[in-house]
Amino acid sequence: MVEQIKKLETEIRTTLGNIKDAVELDLFRLKYLVKKGSIAALFEQMKDAPPSEKPIVGRELNLLRHIAESEYKELKEKFNSSSPAKKQIDLTLPGRTHFTGTFHPTLRTMDEMIDIFTELGFGVAEGPDIEDGYHNFDALNFPPDHPARDMQDTFFIKSDKDLLLRTHTSPVQIRVMQNQKPPIRCIMPGRVYRNEAINARSLAEFHQIEGLYINKKVSLAELKGTLMVFAKKMYGENSSFRFRPSFFPFTEPSAELDITCYLCHGAGCRICKHSGWLEIAGCGMVHPNVLRAGGIDPEVYSGYAFGFGIERVTLLRTGIDDIRLLYDNDVRVLRQF
Ligand code: PHE
Repeated sequence: MVEQIKKLETEIRTTLGNIKDAVELDLFRLKYLVKKGSIAALFEQMKDAPPSEKPIVGRELNLLRHIAESEYKELKEKFNSSSPAKKQIDLTLPGRTHFTGTFHPTLRTMDEMIDIFTELGFGVAEGPDIEDGYHNFDALNFPPDHPARDMQDTFFIKSDKDLLLRTHTSPVQIRVMQNQKPPIRCIMPGRVYRNEAINARSLAEFHQIEGLYINKKVSLAELKGTLMVFAKKMYGENSSFRFRPSFFPFTEPSAELDITCYLCHGAGCRICKHSGWLEIAGCGMVHPNVLRAGGIDPEVYSGYAFGFGIERVTLLRTGIDDIRLLYDNDVRVLRQF
């Protein structure tokens, strides 16, 4: 039997050497490698070999099968990779679209606001997201029983109510006053947190840009002037604005800045609660108690402060009518900007 195996091996090697294409290779497979092929037939015959020969016959046959199969695989790969079908380029295939990353609309608004205020001479400062009750409330002249200090409005980190997620960027005013001497002119962008029900207009986590200007004889007219210059640059010369009297514990007098609703252009709709106006910033003259808390003498210096909500402004500019879309991270929304 060993002789027979050697004969078959020679035959296989010669045949392999002559194979020129995939068709011939397949004929090879059918003749030698399938269940009814020559190699399998010899395995079948092995049953009748004398027991003393069986181990050698088995070894030789296995070796032959291994050689034949691996040579077959090699040739198959060779023919496959050079087959004309594989090489052809299908020119009718639609191309794959590649999207480049973009800045998130909120971040872009923030950057543009920072650019405009920097042009107007404001520096940029930052403070921590985790604040203490003193900076977030006391130093800003909040009375001890103010509702904002309630668990319903503020995320407290410890039950002793001294560590909290800042509810606005105004605590950075105090940190800046404590660290710089007047004149101070800076903006303070950052993330703020409120324990609020989430809906189309408000989120529990959003961004603000705080502004602070402190010098001798700062007037309310300067505050109005600065905000108007900013608002026109940001929204265009043709947008309309109004200042509306308001209240904040840390400014006196206080006002809110409104812009005509972007959806209804003043006619009244769901977004503007049918008033035709959207509030975009709080502002006012810095309260003497706040200047004192910041180590500044209110007899010598005065100042103004303002705070813009960035998401609201982003909605105005993009025309997105639900603030939650900004945080859903749906690329179909984000790719549009
Ligand atoms: N901190 C106020 C708010 O979050 C906004 C504000 C800032 C008002 C500065 C006046 C001055 O609503």
